[in-house]
This record gives sequence, C-alpha cells and structure tokens, in this order.
Amino acid sequence: MSKKEFFSAFLKNSKNTGAVAPSSKYLVKKMIEPIDFKKVKCIVEFGPGTGSITNELLNHMPKDAVLLAFEINDDFCKMLKQINDPRIKIISDTAENLETYLHENNFDKVDYIISSLPLAMIPNGVVKNILTVVKKVLSPAGAFVQYQYSLNAYKKLKNTFKKVDVNFTPINIPPAFIFVCKD
Ligand SMILES: C[S@@+](CC[C@H](N)C(=O)[O-])C[C@H]1O[C@@H](n2cnc3c(N)ncnc32)[C@H](O)[C@@H]1O
Repeated sequence: MSKKEFFSAFLKNSKNTGAVAPSSKYLVKKMIEPIDFKKVKCIVEFGPGTGSITNELLNHMPKDAVLLAFEINDDFCKMLKQINDPRIKIISDTAENLETYLHENNFDKVDYIISSLPLAMIPNGVVKNILTVVKKVLSPAGAFVQYQYSLNAYKKLKNTFKKVDVNFTPINIPPAFIFVCKD
C-alpha cells in the first residue's frame, strides 16, 4: 500500500490510524532493535497498519516463531492477509483481546509486544485494558516496545512497568519517541 493510501485511511479515521504516513525505515529499525530474535517463540504486534514493522519482524524471526498481528482497520487487514508467510496470523480485533487469541494459539506468554497504537487518541479505559493485558502476558525476559509522537504516554507506561527507556528518531513523519518497557 502506498503512502497515498495510508493517508486516505488517516482521512477516513484519524483517531484510530493516528499517523499520516507509514513508519520510516529509521523508526522501524529502532522498534525492532531491543528484540533478541534468537530466543523468540511468539511476538505480538499491535496496529501493524500497512506492515512496515511487520515485514521487518518477519525478516528477522526464526522459522518456528509466530507473529500475532492485531489490526482493527479492515482495509489494512485485507492487505496484511496477502503476506505470504505461515508464521504470521492477522487478527482483525482490538489489542484488548490479546489474551484470548494467545491461548487459542497455545501460548501463555509473549516474548515481545511491538506497538504502534496511537495511545494519545485511544480512550483512557481502552489504554488501561491494553496495558493490563500486556503486563499480564509479557515474558519476564521480554519487552513492550511502543512508539508515540509525544512524551504524553510516559507516565502511564512508567506506572505500569519497572523500567522505561526512551529513544528518539527525528527521521520520521512526524519525529517519534520509542519507549522500551521492561519489568
Ligand atoms: C500509527 S498506525 C501504525 C501503522 C504501522 N504500524 C506503521 O508503523 O507504519 C496505528 C495503527 O493502529 C491500529 N489500531 C488502532 N487502535 C487499535 C486497537 N485497539 N487494536 C488494534 N489496532 C488498532 C490502526 O488501525 C492503525 O493501523
């Protein structure tokens, strides 16, 4: 999907889409940097959109690992379903329901959760539900990696996780902060 089609998704539903363009390759690199791919069995992605991060995750994941990708935009889901890779499962449902799908896929814990969700635009109650389930299912050795266009989410993340490191990339539209959260 082109930048133009991504922008048209933003015009249709700016609150859920939360961005005017797909992530730059610089942001994608910083989002996957914290992952130790050698040990990975299950990765979850929230809000894959047009798949900028998704494709890079698949490029690095071991052959026997699974990627569960939660996306609520039907147009993006249709496009993501064209990815020809048996390791990815596209889940057309909200990230809040992570635990149900995790169990359906025979996992209790997730190694890494990579999130592009527009936390600043999602209702507080939904953000709370999402962070609660993330905290519950994240492996102790893993990390929750989230990008945002401001530092607004820092307090919520710090209240949820013991350690929150903040990175930044200016080369993205708009420039982005990357939060790497661990317990
Ligand atoms: C900023 S876009 C990210 C696109 C892509 N990951 C990238 O970095 O280029 C955010 C995505 O989150 C999705 N989204 C928003 N709320 C969601 C929710 N509750 N559960 C799953 N996906 C959601 C939107 O539909 C949108 O595709």
